[in-house]
Amino acid sequence: MEHLKALIRDVPDFPSRGIMFRDVTPLLRDPGAFAEVIGALAARYRDQGIDAVAGIESRGFLFGAPLAMALGVGFIPIRKIGKLPGEKVSREYALEYGTNTLEMHVDAARPGERVLLLDDLLATGGTAAAAAALLQDVGATVAEIAFVVELLFLQGRQALAPHPVHSLLTY
Ligand code: PRP
Ligand code: ADE
Repeated sequence: MEHLKALIRDVPDFPSRGIMFRDVTPLLRDPGAFAEVIGALAARYRDQGIDAVAGIESRGFLFGAPLAMALGVGFIPIRKIGKLPGEKVSREYALEYGTNTLEMHVDAARPGERVLLLDDLLATGGTAAAAAALLQDVGATVAEIAFVVELLFLQGRQALAPHPVHSLLTY
């Protein structure tokens, strides 16, 4: 996995002073690396009874949609406030560098469905915790929460307990 880590660019002081931004755009630009990431996640979740993949806007869409296709299931967009047209559930949250609100259509997942939640990166866990809460608000089961990158020092897994968490690359 070190060769994948080499494709994540460190950008100091973005989007604000003191934040070391882990930029996945070089990884996305490399077709072999991008396919390897999706393949590794698909291998883990194939045959796990996953009914849908939910991705968090916007970087979670970049990995979540191809993963859903690889698993042969549908994709649920969990979006930033004001973007979804239908009836929706909302949750406010704080992340490493700000606050925001996530929304999901109420009919995006049915009660009892097993949904894999996916995002590019786990920092404080605030974003993913809000997304998991939205899935639970409509009665879905969060099968696992998966990330391409996990920033261990921020202990985001604690904010996501008791959901199982998986990450491919750690810092
Ligand atoms: C980033 C990242 C995660 C979140 C992680 O999203 O893609 O969703 O921050 O931070 P947390 O664990 O502290 O909550 P961002 O809000 O920057 O949006 P983007 O995907 O549109 O770039
Ligand atoms: N989202 C939250 N913290 C981040 C970081 N340090 N790098 C990239 N995305 C992030």
